[in-house]
Amino acid sequence: MTKTLELCDKSDIEEGSILKIDIDDLELAVYHAEGAFYVTNDLCTHGPGSLSEGYLEGHIIECDFHNGQFDIRNGEVVAPPCVIALTTYKIIDHDTKVVIEVS
Ligand code: FES
Repeated sequence: MTKTLELCDKSDIEEGSILKIDIDDLELAVYHAEGAFYVTNDLCTHGPGSLSEGYLEGHIIECDFHNGQFDIRNGEVVAPPCVIALTTYKIIDHDTKVVIEVS
């Protein structure tokens, strides 16, 4: 069964920034990149890195632990040492808030 979670106001996150949200047993990173919003798990798949503390350039997030990189649009690994893709979440269209669908 799917449900929706309201994460934040879009105005909470400046362009090029990331906000960590703890909600419903999930630790998420919400990105405002290139005029759009994206949501992934906050925890790097390689280790203890918190991606919301990483470096965002365009659609690429670089973990500040070992510099692995992911594409926030689909979670795919862009640079090692990461090998496991990042979980991404579908954003529900909403005017002012970032809302995701989780199952
Ligand atoms: S913990 Fe993120 S690259 Fe190692």
